[in-house]
Amino acid sequence: MSPTPTSVVICRTVAEMHQAVFQARSNGHTIGCIPTMGSLHQGHASLVRVAAERHNFVVASIFVNPTQFGPSEDFERYPRNVKSDLVILQQAGATHVFLPSIQEMYPVGVASTIHITGVTEVLEGASRPNHFEGVATVVARLFQAMLPDEAFFGQKDLQQTLVIKALVAASSDNAVARTKITVLPTVREHDGLAMSSRNVYLSAEHRQQATVLYRALVSARNMISAGETSRIAVEQEMLGTLSKVGDLTIDYAVAVDADTLRCPTDDLPHTIALCVAVRLGNTRLIDNMLVEHPR
Ligand code: PAF
Repeated sequence: MSPTPTSVVICRTVAEMHQAVFQARSNGHTIGCIPTMGSLHQGHASLVRVAAERHNFVVASIFVNPTQFGPSEDFERYPRNVKSDLVILQQAGATHVFLPSIQEMYPVGVASTIHITGVTEVLEGASRPNHFEGVATVVARLFQAMLPDEAFFGQKDLQQTLVIKALVAASSDNAVARTKITVLPTVREHDGLAMSSRNVYLSAEHRQQATVLYRALVSARNMISAGETSRIAVEQEMLGTLSKVGDLTIDYAVAVDADTLRCPTDDLPHTIALCVAVRLGNTRLIDNMLVEHPR
């Protein structure tokens, strides 16, 4: 364990992490954790700030998890900025950082994985085979290392939060099963673009065009607030807005039940998740908004 100039304590191994957590618990502290892949932004900082209001021991993990990237995805070029991450974490109130190597997380390779059924089968799960298997597997291992009371995630990755809640509900491992999952609102840039580590990939032109995701979600939300009940009409509205941007390929734009991420009929459910995924140039962007139907 080594104190850094920013005074956040870095733990690089599970053994170091456990030692720090056991010490904190013996002092009566509770543990809040924020799993991340680094390249942190103000969305991550907002999670750390809330964690620091609730817990004296706040640990963020930084681990770019290879098992959640597909073979043609961006694992190699995923942005890595540990130095600036440590500054953001310290300023937001983290006390510890878990910074494991791939060997530490997968000591015998990827010998076993965790497969969650149901919610993993649609949207991101359909577009990115094995992605959620990688997420569930690494989140379970991160919880086993950080032993949190509460873990914080952003709503930006809505489907991921549902997968992690299902992982916790199904787990027979106490370190996983006892963890309270808290989801906090998406943090947006001034023009509505959801903050994401992948936004750095966008060219200046694509960065401007990327605001169309937020505009599509807002126009769909306005339609629902005005009384629209047809799922297809709402989806058409989002598709129409998104398709005005030339360079953009639409993966999906759907209005679904916020718990199951499905909607088999044309009747909108009561609590709706508006979910969009597009490709702008080489960058895949996702966003979502939760809307209660006024009826
Ligand atoms: O959301 C992320 O950054 C990652 O998917 C997570 C939860 C840290 C697992 O690698």
